[in-house]
Amino acid sequence: MNKRAWLLLWGLTSAACGDSGTSGDSNDPAKALPCDVQTVMAKCTSCHADPPLYGAPMPLTNVDDFSGSGLDGTALSELVLARVSATTSPMPPAPNEALTSAEIDVLSAWFDAGMPARAEGDSCEPINEGGAPSTLSCETDVVLAKKAPYTMPAGVEDETKCFGLQVENTGAKRHIVGLGPAVDNAAIVHHFLVFRTPSLESEEPFDCALFPPKWELLYAWAPGAPAYELPEQAGFPLEGGETANLVIQMHYNNYANAEDLTDDTRVDMCTTSELRQFDAGVMSFGGANFVLPPNATSELTCDFSVPTQAEPVMPVHIFQSWPHMHSLGRAMQTTVTSANGDERTIVDTNFSFESQLLYPTDIDIDVGDRVRTICSWENSTNEMVPYGEETNNEMCFNIVGYYPAITSPQWSGGLPAAAADCTLE
Ligand code: HEC
Repeated sequence: MNKRAWLLLWGLTSAACGDSGTSGDSNDPAKALPCDVQTVMAKCTSCHADPPLYGAPMPLTNVDDFSGSGLDGTALSELVLARVSATTSPMPPAPNEALTSAEIDVLSAWFDAGMPARAEGDSCEPINEGGAPSTLSCETDVVLAKKAPYTMPAGVEDETKCFGLQVENTGAKRHIVGLGPAVDNAAIVHHFLVFRTPSLESEEPFDCALFPPKWELLYAWAPGAPAYELPEQAGFPLEGGETANLVIQMHYNNYANAEDLTDDTRVDMCTTSELRQFDAGVMSFGGANFVLPPNATSELTCDFSVPTQAEPVMPVHIFQSWPHMHSLGRAMQTTVTSANGDERTIVDTNFSFESQLLYPTDIDIDVGDRVRTICSWENSTNEMVPYGEETNNEMCFNIVGYYPAITSPQWSGGLPAAAADCTLE
């Protein structure tokens, strides 16, 4: 980008972004899974438990569970093999580790053999269950709670609801240094996000599958993701006397017809008056200027070069990356290339709208660096799909957490994406 464009864009104000359960052993030994199958299925039964957790549609804990068909009528054995090898929406969902090909072979051989139950008298090694620890090591002093517990309407399978709330800091400046899940109704909680918003959003539940560009992502949780603590150098600022506006965006699933549909999931937060060295901030790479052609795969390459005018605020250190696209998004890569050719990868991942994860990173960017973000989509619709905030629009933003936060009044976190040069192929 040339100097003039940078200066013009420096004046822009648009902001960031576009925006364990029970398992294994059936109570009925005649229906128990063979030991090798059960060992593989231990990677599934943290969600596909009986009853299912985190929005999983069905239990997969005994032989009978495999005999049925999936939501679309396909035989479950076929669906299982398809989903464990899928690149789009694989099972188990990230951040949980994918099955190895040896594990997939175990399932496949068992299906071919007609899904026999465990041989009588066989006893299996106990399974070590449970994902990443989700407890914060910092001390929780603020609990983010909805105004009231939320009850999903019966008959709804999939919904996203947002809840506005405020955190008041009556004292001196503090830093937000950790956020962790306090999941209440694990049967229906699929994942959640926490944003900071410019003003108070409704405290009553409202629909918000998508969100406006001015919301800054602070935290993303999905089953299997660890609790989240900022690097020791940085904290998100909570200024003295400030009332911070936050939104919890809850994604609920009820494919399994759970009976208890009320959820009071909260988010534990650690703040500290022992200020870290730096304020953390949020900015976005990618681009907002594209229209995807119908029935085609497309790739958008957006380059943002850090201009010399940014010298006073550079370098910055990027400590996390959150790829954000809508449902047609398939993959995102962001790399940084220095003038001397040195290249570092911020993120390089398949994308699934169902599980939008935070990736920890440890990368500096400085004046002269080129930050390149490549977004890939599969537009299987008959429509042109433009950039935008609506359900039938798409996005290409890599929303990163960084420090030290840039505080210039002309700066906004949306600037690097707004200023990028993008080419669609
Ligand atoms: C972190 C929770 C979680 C884990 C672990 C998990 N699943 Fe799932 N699974 C889900 C959710 C939620 C859905 C429903 C949404 C979807 O289809 O993506 C689902 C859907 C499925 C479906 C599609 C069912 C249908 O009717 O369309 C299959 C098949 C499946 N999972 C198999 C597995 C297998 C096999 C494993 C282990 C190798 C596994 N899952 C691990 C949460 C999980």
